[in-house]
Amino acid sequence: MHEFQYRQNELYCEDVPVKTIAKEVGTPFYLYSAKTLLNHYRAYDSAFASIPHIITFAMKANSNLAILRLFAREGGGADIVSAGELYRALQAGVDPQKINFAGVGKTAEEIRYALESNILMFNVESSQELRKIDEVAGRMKKKARVALRVNPNVDPKTHPYISTGLKKHKFGISIDKALEEYKLAASLKHIEVVGIHQHIGSQLTETAPYVDALRRLLGLVEELKKLGIDVQYVNIGGGLGITYDDETPPLPKELATAIGPLVKDLKCILIMEPGRALVGNAGILVTKVLYTKEGDAKKFVIVDAAMNDLIRPSFYGAFHLIQPVIRRERKPITADVVGPICESADFLAKDREMEECLPEEYLAVMSAGAYGFAMASNYNARPRVPEILVNGDRYFTVRDRETHADLIKGEHIPDFLK
Ligand code: LLP
Repeated sequence: MHEFQYRQNELYCEDVPVKTIAKEVGTPFYLYSAKTLLNHYRAYDSAFASIPHIITFAMKANSNLAILRLFAREGGGADIVSAGELYRALQAGVDPQKINFAGVGKTAEEIRYALESNILMFNVESSQELRKIDEVAGRMKKKARVALRVNPNVDPKTHPYISTGLKKHKFGISIDKALEEYKLAASLKHIEVVGIHQHIGSQLTETAPYVDALRRLLGLVEELKKLGIDVQYVNIGGGLGITYDDETPPLPKELATAIGPLVKDLKCILIMEPGRALVGNAGILVTKVLYTKEGDAKKFVIVDAAMNDLIRPSFYGAFHLIQPVIRRERKPITADVVGPICESADFLAKDREMEECLPEEYLAVMSAGAYGFAMASNYNARPRVPEILVNGDRYFTVRDRETHADLIKGEHIPDFLK
């Protein structure tokens, strides 16, 4: 359930009319609901209340400082994939002891920064990386806590671009080779093996792939025990889906019911890294209709937001519901909702059955809180849009709209061109 609801045909975010913000802030902008973020976090946290656990928010989904702070205040941590994300998390006040560092290509510099910051652990994805972490930790006279990311070869039955746990994927260490890698890890002087990690994909709409993958992982945990390697943390990754259209993904409590029996006697701390499930339906992108146009083959609704603001429709063919901010009686149409960018792939919706729109009216692109602003770019020299957070009957700008000056920050014209 989210807090973007109509009251007498007008869309509200919590107790604030979306139109009021649009008028004051200008469009396009991202709009988040603090109450929805909290509800989503608490739904996860309470579903797993009977199992010792840490929720490390996959901040790649949305790394705004205010959102990171909101989860941190609830006791959440962060799943990071770069030094930049570590910096953001620390700036937002996330406890380093609740930060895990994932990714196939951590640089020596990033490893050093993470060790210096005393993060909870690295999720290691190859033996070369393991040796690199050992080497950097050795130079710093430290021990690095690690989990190995195991690729369980389970099909998460999601979009191929966001599925990660099959043999053909670049992620993790094959489950067949994991034992060998653990032996290597245990033998390295500056490595402390503390956990095991998996992440099989994103936008999962069933619990079965989690259960399959976790069973395989726990089989490995048993074998490790026989070798005297005791893992204290089992990380099941993120990936729980959300409703964009008519999907019915499991709720956190259904996930807890499915995997609880497998982990309850483990005496391990469970780590979960949800991204989309916490933020996806807690945010929308608000845009304004500029023009409408009847092409020879199609109708177009041209809006002021574009693929640089929300790339998911063009990149993954993702569906985002588009709703008018003010509802009225209208004629149904089938149209493409497109932005001003000079690319045919610049669309927010294709062949969408929707209601006729008028120039100057506001539209809400729903379920845009995850991988929305986070994947935005400056393509076509478009300043990135502001992010607004509503709390009750008040709203706060949690990121300013970029200016034209921001667009050229850090660029230089060399002397020979002056
Ligand atoms: N943990 C790891 C190691 C991950 O790689 C990811 C996402 C997550 C957790 C969080 O997954 P989530 O709970 O959000 O599904 N840009 C794509 C999604 C890419 C996901 C990448 N990894 C999209 O817009 O659908």
